[in-house]
Amino acid sequence: MTAQLNPRGDVAVLVPAAGAGVRLGPGGPKALRRIGGEPLLVHAVRRIATAPSVHTIVVAAPPGDEDAVRALLKPVAELTVVAGGATRQESVAAALAAVPTGPEIVLVHDAARALTPTALVESVAEAVRGGEDAVIPVLPVVDTVKEVSAAGVVLGTVDRSALRAVQTPQGFRRAVLAAAHAAAVDPLTDDAGLVEKQGVRVACVPGSEYALKITRPFDLALAEHLLGAVPLAGHH
Ligand code: CTP
Ligand code: MG
Repeated sequence: MTAQLNPRGDVAVLVPAAGAGVRLGPGGPKALRRIGGEPLLVHAVRRIATAPSVHTIVVAAPPGDEDAVRALLKPVAELTVVAGGATRQESVAAALAAVPTGPEIVLVHDAARALTPTALVESVAEAVRGGEDAVIPVLPVVDTVKEVSAAGVVLGTVDRSALRAVQTPQGFRRAVLAAAHAAAVDPLTDDAGLVEKQGVRVACVPGSEYALKITRPFDLALAEHLLGAVPLAGHH
C-alpha cells in the first residue's frame, strides 16, 4: 500500500542508501539486500512513511540504480530518488539538495537501520520542533571499552558512563544542517559530527535497540529474526 505522506508535515527525511555494504560481504548494495523477502530500504522507508510528521522523503540510491530504486519504492511511498555519492556525506548532501521548500526540520536516517520504529522518527522530530538545533538518538554503551595500541596491547580503560552509542535518525533545523554540509571538509560518519564542528549544541534522546545498524552478516541474521517481532510504530 502506498503511504500518503502528510502535506502539512514539517519534516523531510533524507535516506542515504548508496553504500556498497562491504562489511556485509558479497551480495550487492546493502540497502537492496533482503530480510523477510524485501530490501532493507523498503523496510526503512515504510517505517519513515508511517510517521505522521513526515512531509518529504529523499532517498540517495546507489549510483546507476536510481530507476530500480524508484520502481521498488513506488508502492511504498511517494518520494524523490537521487544518485548517492562516493561517501555517506556526499550522499546526504545530494539528498539535502533535493528537498523542496517547506519542511524546516530535516532528519537523516540510514537505510541500513531498517527496523527503526516510527516512534523514534517522531521523538527526534519533536525534540527539534521543541527548540533544539540538532538531536541524536543514543544508547548507553554496555561493553567495557578499552583503548588499544596498533600492536594489540591495552593502553587504558575508558570511563563508559559518559559514552553513548549513536544511531539515526538524526534531526536538525534545516538551516543548521545545510550550513554544516556547506562548511564540511573531511567526510565524517554522521551528520551531527559536522554540526558539532560548527559549534552547535547537539541534544540526545533515547534511542531504540531496533534501530541497530545492519552492518555485518550477524546483524542481517538478527534483523531477519527480529522482523516478525517488531511493530511498525512501537518504540522499545
Ligand atoms: N551510504 C551512502 N553512500 C555512501 C556510503 C554509505 O548513502 N557512499 C549509506 C549506506 O547505504 C547506509 C548508511 O549510509 O544506509 C550507513 O553506512 P554504512 O552502514 O557504512 O553502509 P555501507 O557503506 O553500505 O557499508 P560498508 O561501510 O560496510 O561498505
Ligand atoms: Mg560505510
